[in-house]
Amino acid sequence: MIVAIDGPVGVGKSTVARAVAEQMGFLHIDTGAMYRALALRCLEEDLDPDDPQAMGEMAAFTQVRLEPSPRGPKVHLNSHDVTEAIRSPEVTALVSKVSAHPGLREIVVHRQRLMAEHGSVVMEGRDIGTVVFPRADVKIYLDASLDARVRRRAGDYEARGTPWSFEEIRQSVLARDDYDKNREVSPLRVADDALVVDTTELSFEEVVARIVKIIRDKIREKRSAEKKRKG
Ligand code: DC
Repeated sequence: MIVAIDGPVGVGKSTVARAVAEQMGFLHIDTGAMYRALALRCLEEDLDPDDPQAMGEMAAFTQVRLEPSPRGPKVHLNSHDVTEAIRSPEVTALVSKVSAHPGLREIVVHRQRLMAEHGSVVMEGRDIGTVVFPRADVKIYLDASLDARVRRRAGDYEARGTPWSFEEIRQSVLARDDYDKNREVSPLRVADDALVVDTTELSFEEVVARIVKIIRDKIREKRSAEKKRKG
């Protein structure tokens, strides 16, 4: 079973996807972390983020591994633990640019498809329901007002000790949304058959419960279709 969760910056995809995966016993895959690890490599190696060939080659020769852990996947970049480093403001500022290159995306998407070959997954990102798994069993598009998203991001930043003002965070969220929605390859958009869940007025528990119910209904539906098919 493949559950695709897409949505803009700060909508809470990662925490929701992690809790849904835990309740269902599925593997949680944070695809944003994979793009962030590549953006970190670009910074570390002082590569040109505007050079499509350099970005494609860097992706091909960089190993990114997500290791499941109770507080969210641990991220390894060529065997170094970069779980914290990929959340830095420098990586956040660069990641949309790095992730917009078609050659780099092709490599990352291929790896994401392989990761779902061995069992059920909750995969979250920007293009999971539209490009990575257009035939996912369940597609959710999480959305929330800009204000709610900036407030949530501000909470994350405060917890991490990142000294950004509310206005700086707002500008960063707007800039990344704009980049992610308007890039040429795999822009963020709602898949035609996705269920849109607006989380602005919902609690975290309500969002998780709603998605878990959608998945359970889908499992039941698949089972009864299978029974009918077998006669
Ligand atoms: O979810 P996040 O903020 O950690 O994602 C970081 C960036 O990676 C985001 O700004 C766009 C990119 N991304 C993407 O292009 N496609 C995905 N499936 C996931 C993330």
